[in-house]
Amino acid sequence: MNMISTCELILALDVPSRDEGLTFLDKVEGHLDWVKIGLQLFTKEGPGFIEEVAQRHINIFLDLKLYDIPNTVGSTVRSLGHLPIQMLTLHASGGSEMLAFAREARDEVRPELQLLGVTVLTSFNEEGMVATGIADSLEVQVLRLARLAVRAGIDGLVCSPLELTLLRGEIGVAPLLVTPGIRPAGVDANEQKRTQTPESAAKMGASHIVVGRPILKAENPVKTITDIKTSLQPQATDS
Ligand code: C5P
Repeated sequence: MNMISTCELILALDVPSRDEGLTFLDKVEGHLDWVKIGLQLFTKEGPGFIEEVAQRHINIFLDLKLYDIPNTVGSTVRSLGHLPIQMLTLHASGGSEMLAFAREARDEVRPELQLLGVTVLTSFNEEGMVATGIADSLEVQVLRLARLAVRAGIDGLVCSPLELTLLRGEIGVAPLLVTPGIRPAGVDANEQKRTQTPESAAKMGASHIVVGRPILKAENPVKTITDIKTSLQPQATDS
């Protein structure tokens, strides 16, 4: 079936401090719909910073990659429930029960919060997996954890652009697929090894792309954001 899908841009706000974060957001005011805030900034600046970003009418993806016993993860989601965040990450390898506890807590405290599973970190290769006791290929493990997360009622996955086609085929059109490793054509890949352009990630089924340095370091970040958003206009995809 041919369907129209939309893909949204998320800025990875990878800056060391609140002041730098807010200064950058002021520069691009009115152009951004989403930011991703990671462990570095959240650990330093805390929930108050989340509130300050949300006051600028920007959706927040809080990338904490939670992983702990089910009760602790459930309690953490409850603690985060008062924050104005729209997406939160957890490690799918925490297992079905951990994910279910997170989902139940989310349903209670912030039903609109979308939970995203992280499968295998892209910093892992097959040697690293063997060292941690997983004999299967990366692909088999990613698919296994993706299925587990979706069955546990998780709303979507974070994945590399290389996994988009495989995962869309496996989990269908509904779950979110949020994809870093994106570079507009002709832009420095930095240390990212296998990148895709925004257009091709959207065509392959990404619901959201995460872009950091190409926007943060751009001479004219508003233009870069606008160009990326234009390139993400609804795409026809095969599903
Ligand atoms: O600056 P850049 O566009 O490479 O930033 C990408 C963002 O996505 C960073 O916050 C990085 O930590 C994150 N990320 C990634 N690759 C993954 C998972 C997360 O680049 N596999």
